[in-house]
Amino acid sequence: MKKKILVLLGLAIILVVVVLIFVSCKTAATAETTAAAATVAETTAAATTAAEVTEVVAGDESACADCHNDTTVIFSKETQYSNSVHGTGLNFERNDAGCAVCHTSEGFTARVAAGATLAVADDATAIQNASPVNCRTCHNIHTTYTKADWALKTVAPVTLEFTGDVYDKGNSNLCASCHQPRPGTDIPVAGGPAVEITSTRYGPHHGPQSSMLLGVGGFGEYKGSSVHYDATENGCIDCHMTDSAFGKQAGGHTWRMGYVFHEAETEFLAGCLKCHEDIESFDRNGVETELAPMVEELRLLLVKQGLIDDTGAGIAGTFTAEQAGALWNYKTFTEDRSNGLHNPGFGKFLLQTGIDALKAK
Ligand code: HEC
Ligand code: HEC
Ligand code: HEC
Ligand code: HEC
Ligand code: HEC
Ligand code: HEC
Repeated sequence: MKKKILVLLGLAIILVVVVLIFVSCKTAATAETTAAAATVAETTAAATTAAEVTEVVAGDESACADCHNDTTVIFSKETQYSNSVHGTGLNFERNDAGCAVCHTSEGFTARVAAGATLAVADDATAIQNASPVNCRTCHNIHTTYTKADWALKTVAPVTLEFTGDVYDKGNSNLCASCHQPRPGTDIPVAGGPAVEITSTRYGPHHGPQSSMLLGVGGFGEYKGSSVHYDATENGCIDCHMTDSAFGKQAGGHTWRMGYVFHEAETEFLAGCLKCHEDIESFDRNGVETELAPMVEELRLLLVKQGLIDDTGAGIAGTFTAEQAGALWNYKTFTEDRSNGLHNPGFGKFLLQTGIDALKAK
């Protein structure tokens, strides 16, 4: 009997000790998460108080469930993203300081934190374990841990690094901060000095879509932004991110403008239909039909005068300002890759100016 009481007493003491250890651990853990949450709150511009964040992390899971719930709000977007070039492209290995600011999630995040200008760091140390553009690059995921985190990381107007013009078109300012020409070479000036071309990649880099919409950054005098800049509310997003009935093939978070239907490449017109009620193809009023032969004419002239080879790669050498300008315009038009649709008027100007400059030679 006495022995039984002693055993019970022992068990009771062990239980108390276990409870005490548990409680003290839990307090320490909460303190740690609170500290972490406080830092998060401090470092973000979002107007959530540390107390609110603490409350979420300490156990009120309702805010997590704003997003992590039984709907497909995250899953549907992840599915679309998984087929996007942001998600599948392999160019996030361009992770040196000068490239990482646009090509990696980590580099872009650091750039925005530093004030949204292109250059972040001078040291060329490559980012380790870099990620491509993803949910966290564009959205403030896990910042306040509420639905407010779908807010875009930046929608500030973008002063284009290369030309100094301001791109300001709602949510697509996010896109323009990366999809802009890269400084490097000056644009040739008509009648100016000869131009020495040293790089086979001469031109405005691969993503000059924002300058194309603004109608800036070409060789020759041109005034006027695109109808598709002026008329749209959110620029790129109005056409590339329209809700889509084509799953992960086009629109939404695929950013793609085409899908396959009955084994045929089909143009994604959902965005266009918002403004052009009876549009049947991208080639509205024959704009692409008019521009395509001009691209070919300019290309052949450039090959003939020794500025590019048959594959389109630049050839090093010294050329007149007009010749270099023609090449500049050709690269701007082709690197934009919308076949002129981003800015039909400017597209035609670029090609015509290039052709005229080479023919005058
Ligand atoms: C604004 C919506 C949103 C809220 C609110 C939110 N999450 Fe998430 N969470 C996401 C998204 C989006 C991902 C996927 C991120 C990715 O794929 O990069 C994710 C991913 C996760 C993951 C997977 C691991 C990871 O980090 O990728 C965990 C775990 C998670 N969330 C936990 C939480 C918890 C716990 C909370 C609340 C404290 C919370 N989330 C609140 C949107 C949210
Ligand atoms: C952080 C920089 C960044 C932001 C922000 C960004 N992009 Fe991109 N985008 C890229 C890079 C880099 C690629 C090429 C990825 C690769 O090839 O690995 C790309 C690829 C694309 C492509 C596919 C091009 C192709 O090769 O077919 C489209 C379309 C596109 N982006 C549209 C957009 C739109 C629209 C937005 C705004 C909602 C946007 N991007 C925001 C950097 C960015
Ligand atoms: C201002 C932002 C920005 C910077 C800085 C930048 N890129 Fe890009 N780059 C882009 C965007 C946006 C695309 C995708 C454009 C598209 O597909 O139309 C791209 C595409 C590319 C591609 C794919 C081209 C193709 O035809 O598929 C390569 C390669 C590339 N970049 C290399 C680099 C390298 C190397 C650097 C650094 C020396 C660099 N980029 C710096 C924005 C940038
Ligand atoms: C290249 C930038 C970019 C990336 C990457 C991106 N988003 Fe988005 N997302 C946007 C933009 C821009 C919008 C607003 C679209 C609009 O205005 O129609 C948006 C809207 C959303 C919305 C609707 C938000 C609301 O307020 O209702 C959700 C949900 C969402 N994204 C989830 C995701 C998830 C999940 C991922 C990762 C798989 C992701 N996004 C990746 C740019 C991006
Ligand atoms: C008026 C609608 C519209 C707007 C606005 C628009 N685009 Fe496009 N974009 C298109 C169409 C249409 C194509 C494809 C043209 C074709 O294939 O003939 C395209 C092509 C592209 C491509 C080439 C890859 C692909 O998907 O075919 C990229 C990259 C791109 N756009 C990015 C952007 C960015 C970044 C912006 C904003 C700065 C933007 N676009 C604004 C309609 C638009
Ligand atoms: C926000 C409204 C809006 C959207 C979205 C839009 N456009 Fe336009 N577009 C216009 C306006 C306005 C004009 C100039 C007036 C006109 O031609 O009707 C124009 C002109 C054009 C032109 C030049 C026509 C000419 O005769 O010179 C083409 C081509 C074109 N759009 C194609 C498209 C395609 C393809 C899409 C979808 C990828 C699209 N547009 C999306 C508003 C829009």
